Amino acid sequence: MTWSVDSWKARPLAQEIHYEDTAGADAVVTKLRQLPPLVTSWEIERLKKLVAEAQAGKRFLLQGGDCAEMFADCKPDIITSKLKILLQMSLVLVHAGKIPVVRVGRLAGQYAKPRSKLTEERDGVVLPSYFGDLINRPDFTPEARRADPRAMLDAYGHAALTLNFVRSLSDGGFADLHHPEYWDLAFLSRADLPPEMREEYTQTSHRLSEALRFMEALGETTVDELTSVEFYTSHEGLNLHYESAQTRTVPRRTGHYLLTTHLPWIGERTRAVDGAHVEFFRGIENVVGVKIGSNVDPADALNLLEFLNPNNEAGKLVLITRMGAAHVQRALPPLVDRIHRAKRKVLWVCDPMHGNTIPTANGLKTRSFDDILFEIEQTFAIHHDSGSFLGGVHFELTGEDVTECVGGGLTEEDLDRNYASVCDPRLNYRQALEMAFRVGHWLGRAKPSLRF
Ligand code: PEP
Ligand code: CO
Repeated sequence: MTWSVDSWKARPLAQEIHYEDTAGADAVVTKLRQLPPLVTSWEIERLKKLVAEAQAGKRFLLQGGDCAEMFADCKPDIITSKLKILLQMSLVLVHAGKIPVVRVGRLAGQYAKPRSKLTEERDGVVLPSYFGDLINRPDFTPEARRADPRAMLDAYGHAALTLNFVRSLSDGGFADLHHPEYWDLAFLSRADLPPEMREEYTQTSHRLSEALRFMEALGETTVDELTSVEFYTSHEGLNLHYESAQTRTVPRRTGHYLLTTHLPWIGERTRAVDGAHVEFFRGIENVVGVKIGSNVDPADALNLLEFLNPNNEAGKLVLITRMGAAHVQRALPPLVDRIHRAKRKVLWVCDPMHGNTIPTANGLKTRSFDDILFEIEQTFAIHHDSGSFLGGVHFELTGEDVTECVGGGLTEEDLDRNYASVCDPRLNYRQALEMAFRVGHWLGRAKPSLRF
């Protein structure tokens, strides 16, 4: 079967986005095809090389950010907080794991959300669910919930603004490992951060800076690579109208590149092997993520990986398992075993968030810090027992002081205080930093053979 940028249109489309205004949608897609790309093929190929190295145990991947980014949050302080917490977490992981970390934000384009329920009912009124700012708006009115093609141009614009700011910060030295003090969030000095955690973080960052200066004094050539912090973007490739409009060939390379993001992923609800999303993603050159939940049949997963990466190219696939604390011990071992025995090249990443969402008594969605920890700990152990290894973690988090997940300093009664997510509950700053210390501890013990 030949692939084309539009061949997905002949396949069943899960989570279908229906634009009533077809002429408007066509006009937006035409415009998006002409606009410059948000990322380049060089960056994508560089990330593929880093992911290939992570698959060989030489790097660890940290992926994180909002469940759903919102246009209204495209503000400098919110973007810098997110960048800072990811940088701080990565520093903790580098230090504890003695391994370079690849940083990937759920950022600059995470605007489309799959929904378990396609419609929402309130007081007898049924409207389409909110599918993220790329598609419609959260207000419960027919106008807001109608899929609006112009939102694709708005999403492109907000992604470009975010990316421009992130790139400027990174190039301007903000993300230089010599200056971790730039990344301190205001919360680091706040009273409710346990003093031991503050101390541990401060010590970690000092030790790391000192180690770098020492290596530089020795004339180590790897220092430059270690200190200039690269930052990659990722989002769920849910809206294929949008993604395919920015997919093109580039001079002097073969194949098609999806240029809205470095690392698009296929969600748990759209990974059917004969479906439109898998058809689209099998044809692009990017590193592609696939989310896998506890209902997976390992044989189907293997089939999916072969379809997406028939040549078993290194660096191509990131397999993000999201089993849930209650299912991980049952569902993960046979999957790891099957894929590992088949010698498929994948980077195993644990998303301990999406299998652990529970409702509170007042109808909020939350996640327990302990469940999240348990799933990661088990995932490390299961890989170890199968002769495989965990190569990364994927979190929904924010640098803000939100109250969405319980544990790590918060109880269910605290959730009302600052529950800001329009979608899934995120780790707040303190919870995210604590998570990094815990993961760092396991990572340091896991040590695949090839660490530096
Ligand atoms: C997500 O990452 O926000 C998401 C919806 O994940 P999943 O497809 O794993 O449910
Ligand atoms: Co989510």
